[in-house]
Amino acid sequence: MKNYDWLQHVRGESLFLDDLTPPEGTLHAAVFSSPIAHGKIISFNLEEAKNSEGVIEVLTAKDIPGENQIGAIIPDEKLLADDIVDFRGQPVAIVIAKDNFSAHQAVKKIKIELEEFSAITDPREAFQKGQLIIPPQIFSLGDVDSVWKNCDVIVEGTAESGGQEHVYLETQGSLAFPVEGGGIKIISSTQSPTAVQRAAARILNLPMNKVEVDVLRLGGGFGGKEDQATAWASMTALAAFKLKLPVKLILNRQEDMRMTGKRHPYSSDFKIGLTKEGKILAYEVYFYQNAGAAADLSTAILDRTLFHCTNSYFIPNVKATAYCCKTNLPPNTAFRGFGGPQGMFVIESAIYKAAEKLRVDASVIQENNLLNEGDEFPYGQKSKYCMARPAWQKAVEKFNLAEMKNEVELFNQKNKLIKKGAALMPICFGISFTNTMLNQASALVHVYTDGSIGISTAAIEMGQGVNMKLRQVASEIFSIDSSKVKIETTNTTRAANTSATAASSGADLNGKAVEIACKNILDRLTMSAQQELKTNETDKIELKNEIIYLNGKPTEFTWNVLVQKTYAKRISLSSQAHYATPNIYFDKAKAKGEPFAYHVYGTAIIHVTVDCLRGTYEIDSVKVVHDFGKSMNPTIDRSQAEGAIMQGIGWMTIEEVIYTKEGKLLTDSMSTYKVPDVYFTPKEIQVDFLENLNPSAAIFNSKAIGEPPLMYGIGIYFALWNAIKAFKPSNEIKISAPMTNEKLLMMLYVYS
Ligand code: MTE
Ligand code: HPA
Ligand code: MOS
Repeated sequence: MKNYDWLQHVRGESLFLDDLTPPEGTLHAAVFSSPIAHGKIISFNLEEAKNSEGVIEVLTAKDIPGENQIGAIIPDEKLLADDIVDFRGQPVAIVIAKDNFSAHQAVKKIKIELEEFSAITDPREAFQKGQLIIPPQIFSLGDVDSVWKNCDVIVEGTAESGGQEHVYLETQGSLAFPVEGGGIKIISSTQSPTAVQRAAARILNLPMNKVEVDVLRLGGGFGGKEDQATAWASMTALAAFKLKLPVKLILNRQEDMRMTGKRHPYSSDFKIGLTKEGKILAYEVYFYQNAGAAADLSTAILDRTLFHCTNSYFIPNVKATAYCCKTNLPPNTAFRGFGGPQGMFVIESAIYKAAEKLRVDASVIQENNLLNEGDEFPYGQKSKYCMARPAWQKAVEKFNLAEMKNEVELFNQKNKLIKKGAALMPICFGISFTNTMLNQASALVHVYTDGSIGISTAAIEMGQGVNMKLRQVASEIFSIDSSKVKIETTNTTRAANTSATAASSGADLNGKAVEIACKNILDRLTMSAQQELKTNETDKIELKNEIIYLNGKPTEFTWNVLVQKTYAKRISLSSQAHYATPNIYFDKAKAKGEPFAYHVYGTAIIHVTVDCLRGTYEIDSVKVVHDFGKSMNPTIDRSQAEGAIMQGIGWMTIEEVIYTKEGKLLTDSMSTYKVPDVYFTPKEIQVDFLENLNPSAAIFNSKAIGEPPLMYGIGIYFALWNAIKAFKPSNEIKISAPMTNEKLLMMLYVYS
């Protein structure tokens, strides 16, 4: 069950958008964007750019035949700014030239005159000025106000978490060409083909059936292409539509970093109340989300922050308020975890502050308050098949926590300038799009007369292995070798009305649709075999390893022969199927419901060593017990867990997105934005499978894996916290992730 894609990747055989041989006469586009974060456009001068060598055309908002609008949830985002610019890097004009170099040269020749306004980059300032994208969102359970008086300790504080650049290896891009009848075909690097189709149709004033979107595979999306691939696709569509020639646009790394949104930074206030035994009685939290200049997916991300604000703990009284604050930064967007990590970071911070006050190890409070079967989440759903405690217990026993603790203590007694720190990080993540409507998918399965199979679904392969899992579903249902199954590109004419491949539910939703379609065909094949073998009612037909069995005995009918015979009888060998997650709902007005098909649980134990002279640190180990359900593909699932853990650790440690007060991105290249490399990875990563059958709506009793393990990375912040405390117990930690080396050093010597 290796992932076939990996073989192609290492051989350099996989085809990404930029690897396609472009059609004859393809033109190249480059984007001119706002040089300031906030202001009014007075005028442009495009003449010099238009006359620049190799330039065919320069397009602006007035060239848009349809509506200048790409906002998906809220229509508040223009494709090309025509009056007010709201962030630095906001697209204003598109240059189309014979080649990429000429297009970029011409972009530099565009002159724009602007009246500059003051810019807001801080979400709290936006809040104070009433710049909210939607009204405040509130989740509550019990009644916090009436229980503060019963608490033995109450701790209040503030926690900041930073943005995160997606750093997908493949930058944003698109290739569009005109097709017969005035339509457009777009090849896009998107997680959401239908979002691209809808946006381009709106821009061009075309019905959706005249816009075909095709997606090969992505060199990573991580949420960054859930909503933000639409702009570039719409631009190439517009240019191809206007010029009647194919147009390609691929952002270079710096353009991509400057123009696209990232994980949302949050600033949050918390108040937590506990008994002296460490039972949490009440938790009140206010989240200020830095949405950037347009809604994008911010409101949905804000929801997930609220859904996960109590992580894997049961807290009987909760009041969580979230503000979607409009600032003059590029619109921030989906990023693995989708707001969940930001919510979880704050409850963990609150627990660590409370532990200091109670003079106990934070793990005591964590364990004390873990969810039990049947406990209610603040949104009304009850925890079912709850693995919070089993995962915690297994981690503590399997990795011998007591011994590890002793080692840390001994080490810290012996060493003055080098300190170790450890932290436990339990997680709980809800699976399903929180917007119930999106939890649907479709599959189109063709069995060809030679017995090979082609499958189209809504799923996008972005490195997470969904194509391999879909192949496994078909190969399992038909009991044929997976090499017979091909997963086709994702295409809006073969799979319509696709939800984004996101929310970790790609394999669940599309896998289920494939399962249904394959079973439809299998039923027909079985009927056909019954006719061929002239069976009676009590006879049992089975397909096993490409052979037809009659009453447990192999017949001369192979898969291939049966397929041909069935075709000869004029029986359809194709099926289209639709799947919708059953029994989920959410009442937005009441903020209650059962939005998730199931939850994923687990616990990580993280160890770090801090050099307290230099402020540098190393990651000794990350040991995890993770609830995989019944894993469909342990190789893929383990690699997903390891990748997500590293991405979470990066967010909490060395990845720092820095904008100036004027909204200029300083970390706009791979030399100024640091992602974990091989030297930074933990010396030891262990991922232990807590195997159990997931009886909920998931494919083959597995569990979604894409996002949940990212949140183990949060634990490293607190492992570093403990190491700092070991160096200087009186230190008051100012909670502000990421814990870069610089910040850590300041924490040790300046802030305390
Ligand atoms: N893994 C790789 N290699 N590349 C990616 O872009 N995206 C992540 C995760 N794992 C991603 C990845 C995100 S944000 C999500 S939501 C899921 O994969 C989406 O795919 P799935 O639903 O099939 O798990
Ligand atoms: N997760 C990921 N992406 C989404 C969601 C979600 O819950 N809702 C809309 N897009
Ligand atoms: Mo993932 S952030 O749901 O694309």
